[in-house]
Amino acid sequence: MKLILLGPPGAGKGTQADILSKRLAIPTISTGNILRAAVKNGTPVGLKAKEYMDAGKLVPDEVIIGVISERLAEPDCQKGYILDGVPRTIPQAEALEKAGIVFDAVVSIEITDQEIVDRMAGRRVCTACGTPFHVKNMPPKTEGVCDNCGGKLEARADDKPEVVRDRLAVYHKETAPLKDYYGERKLLKMVDNQPTVAATTTAILEALGL
Ligand code: AP5
Repeated sequence: MKLILLGPPGAGKGTQADILSKRLAIPTISTGNILRAAVKNGTPVGLKAKEYMDAGKLVPDEVIIGVISERLAEPDCQKGYILDGVPRTIPQAEALEKAGIVFDAVVSIEITDQEIVDRMAGRRVCTACGTPFHVKNMPPKTEGVCDNCGGKLEARADDKPEVVRDRLAVYHKETAPLKDYYGERKLLKMVDNQPTVAATTTAILEALGL
């Protein structure tokens, strides 16, 4: 299974990708997590990406295409994968198509901007493994501690309301057109965000016929 999860910032792509990855036994490839690790480790990619990420802007396509090509060549991707946060522009989608990758489905999680702004204030992310939590909707067992690895949970720097608004504007301009792109290829499945994480997983599995 080769799957793309589309949706605005905070739609729940990372949350659903983690759940589906366990269920389908295929890895999740999150460009956001790869870039945050690169920034933390001060790698050349991280140094290039940081200013864009802090401002809520997209990292240039050539950087992303390099990062994703390298990651998809790793052995754990042989049986399939879930792409979370990539492609995010038409040129990125074209680069994947040019590389000969055939996707089984593209799931777009549909949610309003207002719900996103309300939700992002409560997100906490593991500084070690990237797992997302929410203070109300998906709290960790122990406050401030990751259930998966025991890492420290923190709010993301780009979850400040003013940056979230910029990220939403970028989503509508650059990423939302991918719905038409994959719709034309008969791959698009639109799934409405549900009041709970579990209900959204059920809706995605139904849309995928699983
Ligand atoms: P990235 O990390 O990809 O951020 P994003 O797409 O903006 O998405 P998020 O990670 O913010 O949200 P999500 O949809 O995964 O939601 P989550 O599951 O956490 O990218 C960050 C930056 O990196 C970009 O701004 C850009 O600069 C750069 N970048 C990355 N990829 C790039 C690319 N391809 N090209 C160029 N630049 C790139 O859920 C959010 C919260 O809601 C959580 O707290 C969760 O617990 C809660 N929640 C989830 N689902 C539900 C539900 N159904 N009900 C209630 N609460 C829920």
